[in-house]
Amino acid sequence: MKHGSILVTGGAGYIGSHVALQLRARGERVLILDDLSRGFRQAALDTPLIVGAVADRERVRGVLHEHGVDTVMHFAAHTIVPESVREPLKYYRNNTCATGALLECCLEAQVRHFVFSSSAAVYGVPAEGFAAESTPTAPINPYGTSKLMSEWMLADVARAASLRYVALRYFNVAGSDTGGRIGQATPNATLLIKVACEAALGKRAHVAIFGTDYPTPDGTGVRDYIHVEDLAAAHVDALSYLRGGGACITLNVGYGHGYSVRQVLESVERVSGKRLAVREEPRRAGDPGALVARADRIRAELLWRPRLDDLDGIVRSALAWEERLLRDPW
Ligand code: UFG
Repeated sequence: MKHGSILVTGGAGYIGSHVALQLRARGERVLILDDLSRGFRQAALDTPLIVGAVADRERVRGVLHEHGVDTVMHFAAHTIVPESVREPLKYYRNNTCATGALLECCLEAQVRHFVFSSSAAVYGVPAEGFAAESTPTAPINPYGTSKLMSEWMLADVARAASLRYVALRYFNVAGSDTGGRIGQATPNATLLIKVACEAALGKRAHVAIFGTDYPTPDGTGVRDYIHVEDLAAAHVDALSYLRGGGACITLNVGYGHGYSVRQVLESVERVSGKRLAVREEPRRAGDPGALVARADRIRAELLWRPRLDDLDGIVRSALAWEERLLRDPW
């Protein structure tokens, strides 16, 4: 059966651009819709880029019809937790309401498959630090709530129409394309591995450890860090699953084990050969102590097999990307 095109919203952003690249490498017809508010034109590489907003119904309708889109992968979103706390309505408008508008257009255009970027932030602070898909959702910030509301809309829409979806709840994404073409280019980054790599290269004076009194083995926060290429591969697997007739499903994407902030900083020192200037600071508001995926279900359902589950390897690719950005800023 001949497949339609795939629309990747937010495909000029960090994760969407890696997914677009893998889809193209498989010979898929891909187009990117991105308003470039946070994305970068360069990240689209040679994938056709339409500059526009997901919430612009006229535009999206036109794109879906003109390009014969049968699958939408929806990445476009704001993703900064502290910003969501300061400006909640921006997150509900840009993440939740925009997803609603996109879904309306998808139904009109009879899009068959939808892959949604959700987040481990929907779990809030799970007991024992592990979250399975069955763990109760209890987001503790507007970012997490905006994603959970989108999941709910998607589930209701799928019950009422023929669209089928995979919602992927990402844990802590890091690293970059092993070909060195794309990576995370967000200015004023807050994510630990990027911050620490910037510090190793002298772009920052120091790295802060936010909290050393968590009930974790070394007192610092524990997360499930996953290489962006393994995460991207989960989307390709989700597409195969949906094309194979798979039922609507929500899945964690993580490796199932965690590292502490101190372990991450040690890895950055090991890989870079630099000593980091580290400052111990109080806990950051809204941070759970530990958040690690129970990640068996995605392996069983999508047959996803991670290839890059190695902290030093993740850090090496993140560092290589930061070095490239130093030479050639985006
Ligand atoms: N941390 C530091 N110093 C820093 C940055 C982070 O100690 O400079 C710590 C945090 O306190 C936390 C860990 O490193 O313990 C990871 O923090 P990140 O900011 O890298 O990532 P988060 O876990 O806060 O958040 C990420 C994404 C969110 C997503 C969430 C889901 O940014 O979009 O994972 O768990 F919702």
